[in-house]
Amino acid sequence: MCGIIGYIGKQEAVPILLEGLRRLEYRGYDSAGLAVLGKKVKCAKAVGKVKALEDKIKRQKLSGFLGIAHTRWATHGAPGEKNAHPHSDCRGNLWLAHNGIIENYQKLKKSLQAKGHKFKSETDTEVLVHLIEEEQSKRGGLTLEEATRRALKKVIGTYGLAVISAKEPQKIVVARQSSPLLIGVGENEYLVASDACAVITRTNQVIYLDDGEIGVIEPSGVKIINLDKEPIKKSNHIIDWDLSRAQKDGFDHFTLKEIFEQPQAIANSLRGRLISEDGLAKLGGLQDVEEKLRDIERLVVVGCGTAYYSGLIGEYMLEEYAGVPTEVEYASEFRYRKPVLDKTSALLCVSQSGETADSLAALQEARRKGILTLGFVNAVGSTIARVTDAGVYNHIGPEIGVASTKAFSSQICLFALLTLFLGRQRNLSLVMGQRIARELQNMPVLVKKVLRQDKVIQKIARKYFKAKDFFFLGRKYNFPLALEGALKLKEISYIHAEGYGAGEMKHGPIAMIDKNFPTLAIAPKDSVYEKMAANIEEIKARGGPVIALTTERNNALNKLADDVIFLPKTLEMLTPILAVVPLQLLAYHCAILKNRDVDKPRNLAKSVTVE
Ligand code: F6R
Repeated sequence: MCGIIGYIGKQEAVPILLEGLRRLEYRGYDSAGLAVLGKKVKCAKAVGKVKALEDKIKRQKLSGFLGIAHTRWATHGAPGEKNAHPHSDCRGNLWLAHNGIIENYQKLKKSLQAKGHKFKSETDTEVLVHLIEEEQSKRGGLTLEEATRRALKKVIGTYGLAVISAKEPQKIVVARQSSPLLIGVGENEYLVASDACAVITRTNQVIYLDDGEIGVIEPSGVKIINLDKEPIKKSNHIIDWDLSRAQKDGFDHFTLKEIFEQPQAIANSLRGRLISEDGLAKLGGLQDVEEKLRDIERLVVVGCGTAYYSGLIGEYMLEEYAGVPTEVEYASEFRYRKPVLDKTSALLCVSQSGETADSLAALQEARRKGILTLGFVNAVGSTIARVTDAGVYNHIGPEIGVASTKAFSSQICLFALLTLFLGRQRNLSLVMGQRIARELQNMPVLVKKVLRQDKVIQKIARKYFKAKDFFFLGRKYNFPLALEGALKLKEISYIHAEGYGAGEMKHGPIAMIDKNFPTLAIAPKDSVYEKMAANIEEIKARGGPVIALTTERNNALNKLADDVIFLPKTLEMLTPILAVVPLQLLAYHCAILKNRDVDKPRNLAKSVTVE
């Protein structure tokens, strides 16, 4: 949440900062601002999206070769210009952009106010810049990095921050604690960013800051120290994807592009990881812990939102085919429980961004208990990827649309791979292993086939987009998918939707059904099909409209349901990979018809780095 970009080099900073902000906008879009150091520091802020800031800047003369900028997702203080970053000290010498939460800000603010500091915003962030000012005024002559270091020693909370000073015009100081921050190393220039997608047009070399580290960036180079002033040696990482992965490629929205990208994304997630003839999965990232995994007796999966739902599907697979008892829990709950974990348990954290605060906290809780930790992460080099003992990357490139789409189908593929991996260590037969591997290999082709029905789904969306409520129903593997379908529709179209295991309908929810309350029933021809068909009958008997997803050539639902979408045949455990596509497209088209901002739904941010 919140995106930071900074620049120091030989080019005009403003266009570079704005381009970076546009790429980071998925992290928050309540307001945006930048501060540029020319002869003195000049700042511009605007409420709303980066475009508003851009329009405002056209009317101002902002010039300089060093600057910082920020796009905000409000936590403390309502969205508005006065709460937009960067924030400054009393004299307007220091400017700071921050992502995270300063938990003890009220206490710090009071004590700073008592010393005469004047606050202009309601944010927690502003205490940071006044704290640095206070350190400098207490001990005249303190450098920006030293004052920042001393200030951060007083802070409890999370931060990725960048600060500049008019008095040291050739320097950006950055620091990180639980909020992502990296330094892009370009030619005669450096960038600072919350995410590599903001620097990729200028460099593919980055230094990832770790918790408790401070970076001092000057034209002559980068120095990293810890909060105790000890120097830290860091190496450059190469980003192995390019700009085309972070652009819309002719699609109207990133969300649509990412839905249509799924055949390729799935192929990338599977590439080199299946040995079909032996019914095996080869997961390089798990090689070092292969023997430990042989002995685990229980897997606990944690994640949030869509990542959590993928875990629920994984649970069905792992228990049915690998025989590994699996529990799935919201990371946000796991961290506050007293989970009973012993050395025969392992924790798997699923996260597209690798930065979700709750998932990270759950992971750290498991580490404290000394159990094996694993990750399914997309963002290479992200915190969760670095903190886990071992893991598997999705390899699907950046996901920019705020609603998760291609990450979900890829996560299910990773669970299928893990099922093969653990299953073949245990009792999964060669024949079944080969079958799963073959069907998985075929997924990109089958997903492409489902995508060809886009027009059919668009037509269905036209019929239902005015509905106020929606049910999504499924059973077994497609119960979690019903939850995911409801989440997608809610978050991008703002239509109220609920997902249920179809068996639960009679226990209460069916009371809601009437002619204005449509249900999307996920009913492929699988082991629970007959039960699903009976649920559809029950809804129709009460006058509720039904859209059914079923397997091609099953015409039995044509008469019963109002609309039918057909899916290619595959293994039951893999049906969610196909069935999710129509759900994503339905949500997308409803959102477009309702004129919603699909890529950046209200109140949301892509990377939830605060609790
Ligand atoms: C929904 C969505 C969120 C994320 C959740 C976890 O479309 O995107 O529910 O899935 O915030 O994010 P990651 O996977 O980055 O940990």
